[in-house]
Amino acid sequence: MTRRDVLVIGSANVDVSVTTARLPRPGETVTGHSSLISVGGKGANQAVAAARCGATTRFAACVGDDAFGRMVLERLDDRGVDRRAVQVLHGRATGLATILVDAAGQNCIAVASGANAELTPERIDALAGSIAAAGVVVLQCEIPMASVYRAVEIAAAAGARVILNPAPFRGLDLARIRGRVDVLVPNETEAAQIHRHAVTTSAEAAAAALALHAAGIANVIITLGANGCVLAAAGEVRAFPPHIVDAIDATGAGDAFVGCLAASLAAGDPLPQAIERATVYAALSTTRQGAQASYADLGDLERALAAGRRTHP
Ligand code: RIB
Repeated sequence: MTRRDVLVIGSANVDVSVTTARLPRPGETVTGHSSLISVGGKGANQAVAAARCGATTRFAACVGDDAFGRMVLERLDDRGVDRRAVQVLHGRATGLATILVDAAGQNCIAVASGANAELTPERIDALAGSIAAAGVVVLQCEIPMASVYRAVEIAAAAGARVILNPAPFRGLDLARIRGRVDVLVPNETEAAQIHRHAVTTSAEAAAAALALHAAGIANVIITLGANGCVLAAAGEVRAFPPHIVDAIDATGAGDAFVGCLAASLAAGDPLPQAIERATVYAALSTTRQGAQASYADLGDLERALAAGRRTHP
């Protein structure tokens, strides 16, 4: 690996998605109108997004020795992700996500971790060479948190740029990441959980981003779905408007954002430019069904950027 390469460490799942007019209430059954079985997992999604956006990308994960594990490996090969650090664990099930998507494209997700829970700190230690050689190391929280902290520690000590997407939120010890994570990328829900204050308005998002930045994270990006995102960096906060599209499925849009951001930073782009690219890339992903299945390639991204950002008047 080189300093221009991206290493994503994290989860791989198979996603079973059903689209319904609205999400069911507890105890209720609703009839869906379409379904999709596809490869997902926040880690794998971010790796595929980074590769599709032009980065030389390696992915480190654990899958089971089952049909779903084989689906994950085939998809990584297909998308040009180096998966030599993906371990196939005998007798373990590959992670599985059940996803419901409503008519507005919003989703809810439940994940059975399976083999993802086996990406232990010991396995992270065994990856130390790859971590130290990467330019950008990307992490999320669908693997044990002890492993996330260990990877952050090794990467930061080696001078790699660390992007942490605290999703799903499973508690975050800021003392273990401050000064080590270069870019923290929560969505509004995760930001509220970390900050312990509501994040529903753009003013609240700006306040949360500044507070996390003041707590010792160099760059904090809070993604706000259809409302764009805010960045707190160098003592200031800046809002980035959304790229307007007709969204049908937001599954994996946050991962598309993180993967594109990583690719752009690895290519040497300044952070604001990387955020602009990631905003457009994530928006494009919502115009198709599924997570990785919805990710555009670099050509589509460049064409969308050349056509200009579509923002609210
Ligand atoms: O962020 C979307 C992803 O969350 C899905 O692909 C699913 O596998 C869960 O990990």
